[in-house]
Amino acid sequence: MLATYTWLITGCNRGLGLEMVTQLVRSPANIVVATCRNPDSALALQELRNEFSGRLHVIQLEVTDSESIERCVLETEKALGGRGLDYLLNNAGVSEQRDTAFTFDSKGFMSTFHANVLGPSLVSRAFLPVLEKGNRKVIMNMSSQLGSKAWKFGAPYATYAACKSALNMLTTKQAFERPDLIVFCMCPGWCKTDMGGDDAPLDPKVTMEGLLKFISSATSEHSGRYWRWNGEEIEW
Ligand SMILES: NC(=O)c1ccc[n+]([C@@H]2O[C@H](COP(=O)([O-])OP(=O)(O)OC[C@H]3O[C@@H](n4cnc5c(N)ncnc54)[C@H](OP(=O)(O)O)[C@@H]3O)[C@@H](O)[C@H]2O)c1
Repeated sequence: MLATYTWLITGCNRGLGLEMVTQLVRSPANIVVATCRNPDSALALQELRNEFSGRLHVIQLEVTDSESIERCVLETEKALGGRGLDYLLNNAGVSEQRDTAFTFDSKGFMSTFHANVLGPSLVSRAFLPVLEKGNRKVIMNMSSQLGSKAWKFGAPYATYAACKSALNMLTTKQAFERPDLIVFCMCPGWCKTDMGGDDAPLDPKVTMEGLLKFISSATSEHSGRYWRWNGEEIEW
């Protein structure tokens, strides 16, 4: 019998999340829970669900809303019919773009930290019992190389960089606390999406193929570390 794997991804309405869902559902080995803020208007996900019904579940999830997270856990457990989750991909994120440490807007700063740091922390905490029932027990936190202190990028993207650094630290704490899980963060590279913009050099099809290949074969050796989509390690 074909081994199957269960995946849950946040922020799948568009961009990198949608690309990952599109690639994963093409394999009969995968059962995918694609979450998004507004399933009723997520037309691309609806089309995929029609094509791959039974292996793609679309569930509402706003990562800054605890009630939405709790509902999503219950609906995911129902959709998976008691199976655990093998892979949790915390992909959803926002960016304050090119703000700086002395020009940032405090509302934007708070909402970015809420979506990019508290959001994935709450999601991982809430889904822990479902991951514990999974075989692979993998959490991938979507970071960015902008969160690396070793990369001297300069002044812009202050809020975004600070929150990805915080997400990196959360990842190391999760890995220390739970050595039975495989928890790491990744940079997808600068990709053409609404967030990355048209000038981005990388095609999400290529980067998400590399990133998913890396995640699928990750072992405890990779836990607590920071990886690029092509498998290179990034310095903190
Ligand atoms: N693109 C790049 O070059 C790049 C580089 C480095 C890192 N990243 C990271 O990769 C991830 C995906 O980026 P992307 O380029 O795909 O961005 P994107 O095109 O802007 O898409 C972001 C996705 O996240 C969802 N989202 C935002 N806030 C959310 C929330 N509070 N709850 C649930 N979903 C939420 C959005 O939902 P709606 O559609 O409902 O708005 C959207 O589906 C992010 O974590 C980003 O920081 C991207």
